[in-house]
Amino acid sequence: MPLRAAVSEALGSAIVGHRDLHGGMSPGPAAALELADGRRVFAKAISSEVRAHNHMLLHRESAVLDALPKTVPAARRLATVEWGSWVALVTTWVDGTFNGPWTDESIKAVVRACRIVGEHRAPNVLRPVVERIFDFDGWERVLALGPADDWEAEYAGRAAEVVAGWERWTSGDALVHRDLRADNTAVDAKTGSATLLDWAYAAAGSPWLDLAQLAADIVGTGHIHGPQVATDRAYALIQMLPVDAARFVVAQSGVWRIRAATIPDTVMPMISTWRRERVQALRPLVTRLIRSL
Ligand SMILES: Nc1ncnc2c1ncn2[C@@H]1O[C@H](COP(=O)(O)OP(=O)(O)OP(=O)(O)O)[C@@H](O)[C@H]1O
Ligand SMILES: [Mg+2]
Repeated sequence: MPLRAAVSEALGSAIVGHRDLHGGMSPGPAAALELADGRRVFAKAISSEVRAHNHMLLHRESAVLDALPKTVPAARRLATVEWGSWVALVTTWVDGTFNGPWTDESIKAVVRACRIVGEHRAPNVLRPVVERIFDFDGWERVLALGPADDWEAEYAGRAAEVVAGWERWTSGDALVHRDLRADNTAVDAKTGSATLLDWAYAAAGSPWLDLAQLAADIVGTGHIHGPQVATDRAYALIQMLPVDAARFVVAQSGVWRIRAATIPDTVMPMISTWRRERVQALRPLVTRLIRSL
């Protein structure tokens, strides 16, 4: 395939083997490539004819990767190749990717990685996080649509209140990854260090933001010891952060709730189910946070 030849040329080595990778949500192929010079690299590709938005995201991620300081735990960009409607991004290979469930060890490693990220000032090319956050008015819209069950009748109003002002309390000049989920991280079991992957949504924002998103994902993705432990680990993590981190988790559950109700599954199959399950999984945590705010 011509794209493969173009990637090979950009890397300066023939591709002698490849293994398809699955995971994440982008509607394009991802693969581990073995090169004739002995390297293994990661490549993902998308056609603008399949989804123009993801095509744009690959270009944006390329620019973000180039702007990240070397001290940020990220894969490094090796090439961005265009072929017709296709674009491919090739980065260094990172061992230890997983799709969850979370363990105490992987949480610890990713917490450390998020702290390192948040200690960096966002490179100038990055946009304010307000431009990379969508549907944080979810609970307000749920109220307007009408609560769907008893829990929402009791808590949706208060949830909307605690989220209000998010444009202000998420802002800052720290580097934020902004798309933190188990499948966007890799943990090296030997060293206990983590790498963050998929940087297309990186932005300038408050330094605790990825840790708050991690807390939401520990519950959404799940912990190896079950939902109660997931909720406890997430709650303990949020307690170590500024109070706005609790607001963030409430907001995130509202994002999944309103998206499940309003965005059809036509682009990504089963995404509404995935979102609804997350809303349900987060309820005990969100209830606890709302009561404490
Ligand atoms: N640098 C890398 N080295 C090794 N594996 C990687 C690397 N980057 C991503 N992966 C793995 O490849 C799979 C596919 O990832 P990909 O980056 O295509 O995007 P995605 O996860 O589909 O997109 P999104 O995160 O936006 O939903 C992921 O599940 C991830 O575990
Ligand atoms: Mg991913």
